[in-house]
Amino acid sequence: MATMADVARSAGVSVATVSHVLNGTRPVLPHTRQAVLDAVEELGYTTNTLARSLVTARTRSIGLAVSAISNPYFTEILQGVEAAALEAGYSLLIADPHDDPDHERKVVQLLHERRVDGLIVAPSADPRGLLAYLGRHDVPAVFLDRLVDGPTTDGGPRFDQVCADNAEPTSRLVTHLAGLGHRRIGLVAGRPGLSTTSERISGYRSGLAFAGLAYDGRLLVYGDSESAGAEQATEALLSLGVPPTALVTGNNAMTIGVLRALGARGLSVPDDIALCCFDDFAWADLFSPRLTAIAQPGRDIGARAVHVLLERLAEPDRPARTVRLPCAFVHRTSCGCPSPSEEGTPS
Ligand code: HPA
Repeated sequence: MATMADVARSAGVSVATVSHVLNGTRPVLPHTRQAVLDAVEELGYTTNTLARSLVTARTRSIGLAVSAISNPYFTEILQGVEAAALEAGYSLLIADPHDDPDHERKVVQLLHERRVDGLIVAPSADPRGLLAYLGRHDVPAVFLDRLVDGPTTDGGPRFDQVCADNAEPTSRLVTHLAGLGHRRIGLVAGRPGLSTTSERISGYRSGLAFAGLAYDGRLLVYGDSESAGAEQATEALLSLGVPPTALVTGNNAMTIGVLRALGARGLSVPDDIALCCFDDFAWADLFSPRLTAIAQPGRDIGARAVHVLLERLAEPDRPARTVRLPCAFVHRTSCGCPSPSEEGTPS
């Protein structure tokens, strides 16, 4: 394998000059630069990242720990992370913690042992082990989708975090349904302990309050953020003495479970029960009726997490921040509107 010294010899320059050309660390005269690039091409030279890491103590790699990678929302996040990392010259190591706190701590340790420069993590509902590990080893990390803590005593967050706006869009689904005359609106909420769950619940409650509807705890059920849990939870809602006339689902996977439960009862949407969903997905407009949904900016969340992490690496002492990205309201027909405008409007 050709070495940097071989490239330098062939181009008639010093090894330092080759390094400056390849790493962009100093301007190099155009003809010298071209000679180096020609020699790289001719000799088939590729950077030895391991050797470089020994010198720079950086591996130009990012560890990504995200559960439910098969969920289209997280797949979009992954695409955003990958594209932004590639553009910045970073490679990715990916692990799936399966939303299990012990597994989460283990995979983060494995990624850290591979000496990634920093981590991007969508934390589980109980991230205490994860936080203890990161704190003990002082690992630069950005949390994504789920927030891990509230503000510190000086008012700022303790960690860099990137997530979608959850409360206001959920509130919008509720007020939309209330505007169509619904008085009993149920929520199939996600797993307790996740900030996405609590924020969507608080959006549900503020939507009710805004519409002048009383909160009734029996109309709020937990679907564990997954299809099977949502199916059971919906069954419980439908068994109430006076069941809801409209439902809001807390995420895409739970929408599937809700639709299964409604189908099992022979209920049709929106004639028997109206439906609005948090999370849009590629085939949401193929369902019959087409799903009125909140679309999260998954790709942007992923890309932004990379940018925030790179800023943290460049400036370790900068104050931590929480970046919230807006969602879009995608108005279709499952809410019961006859033929609403299609396009998403910022929520
Ligand atoms: N968080 C936010 N949105 C989601 C999730 C999640 O865990 N799953 C599906 N949509």
